[in-house]
Amino acid sequence: MPIVEKHDTVFFKNRREQLVDLIKKQYPDANNGIVLLFGSFESHAVFKQERSFFYLTGIEEPATALMIDLENKKTTLFVPNYAQERAKWASSAIFAEQKERFGFDELMYLGQECKGYQCHPFFTKEQYHNLLVIIDECVKNKKPIYTLNPQTVSGYVEQRFILQRIAQLISGFNSQLIDISPLVARLRRTKSRQEIEYIYKAIDVTIDAHDAVARAISADKKEYEIQALLEYMFTVRGCSIAFPSIVASGKNGTVLHYHQNNATLQNGELVVVDIGAEYNYYCADLTRTFPVSGTFSKRQRELYMIVLETQEHIAQLAQPGMWISNKEYPEKSLIHLAHKFLDKYGYGNYFVHGIGHFLGLDVHDVGDYSQPLQPNDVITIEPGIYIPEEKIGIRIEDNYWIVEGEAICLSEDLPKAPDDIELAMANTSNEEINNEEIQEQEN
Ligand code: GLY
Ligand code: MN
Repeated sequence: MPIVEKHDTVFFKNRREQLVDLIKKQYPDANNGIVLLFGSFESHAVFKQERSFFYLTGIEEPATALMIDLENKKTTLFVPNYAQERAKWASSAIFAEQKERFGFDELMYLGQECKGYQCHPFFTKEQYHNLLVIIDECVKNKKPIYTLNPQTVSGYVEQRFILQRIAQLISGFNSQLIDISPLVARLRRTKSRQEIEYIYKAIDVTIDAHDAVARAISADKKEYEIQALLEYMFTVRGCSIAFPSIVASGKNGTVLHYHQNNATLQNGELVVVDIGAEYNYYCADLTRTFPVSGTFSKRQRELYMIVLETQEHIAQLAQPGMWISNKEYPEKSLIHLAHKFLDKYGYGNYFVHGIGHFLGLDVHDVGDYSQPLQPNDVITIEPGIYIPEEKIGIRIEDNYWIVEGEAICLSEDLPKAPDDIELAMANTSNEEINNEEIQEQEN
């Protein structure tokens, strides 16, 4: 079970208060109505709580719901009525303790007893009876229901599914819904010191994994052997993967989200390693490109230096007031500036993805890209050059904390100059080191 840090009651409670303040600012007549948010459901995949729900509640249990009554700011955590079954199968979540720990005013069952130990998206009317009664009352009184319901092709899909399920059970429900996803995104985008620390811990673990990777890479190994090592390095430090690990050698390195990881490393090729640990729900996202042989060829080094200089150039420019992408102001838009820089060398067309993204509870974190960078954003900067005909993919990605007047690199301890990469790889022979690494972690 990955690490989850314990927090004071006020930690999540403060966030809920900030959200209520934002809602009241945005909707001045929001003195009645409710905020209604839903956690994710469980399946046979690894359970990950919906990130905004976690951000506002701290609750890691599936099929839970949060209601805030805006008239009196009373918060209620709704939990499934599993009777005694859940403790036998999944966890012994003691909800009564969580009520105190996370600062809820009230704890209620969603409805009548569920069969078994799980609730599912097609829940029955009976299983959600108690919550439905309250919602029905709201709808009858034409009170607004503030929830996560963006009208976009993706985003909060599971939560929107739950809303649709409720709409099947309560007529008039949909017309009371007001989407607050932009407000939640605004809150989540600006990181507190504590959140920066969590991201930094995720970065620290990811740096150690990259270090082990540098020493392990050699011809004839499978990409998945490298994946196994780096994911071991995450797990042994209480972390999980923030996203599927990419270990992409040769031409695979030109496939941006390559996940097969089953090719054999070959001398003369490069290998793109794009990985991130998740610590206490917060993500890192760091990419390095290694020469399988341990030494860059002249051509590889030439291209690598262009990518590196592009990243350094963009990192120098990143600061409040610049945009990650804004075609109206190309002179202040990092993606346009990166293309302009690469164009000087003739490689603008070989950079085929965005320059970066917000980073936080999600690896591609929420945040409004139409707004310029602001203090306490955390972003990635990740230029690349991809030339399939030459079987060359190169990407360099670091994580930056935006502060007044600059971007602070949170991952500067991870080598990236070509000489330093070669040095890290040459740092003695691999098997021995990997064994030592494992021993060290075990002690
Ligand atoms: N690390 C993968 C991505 O940023 O899309
Ligand atoms: Mn990224």
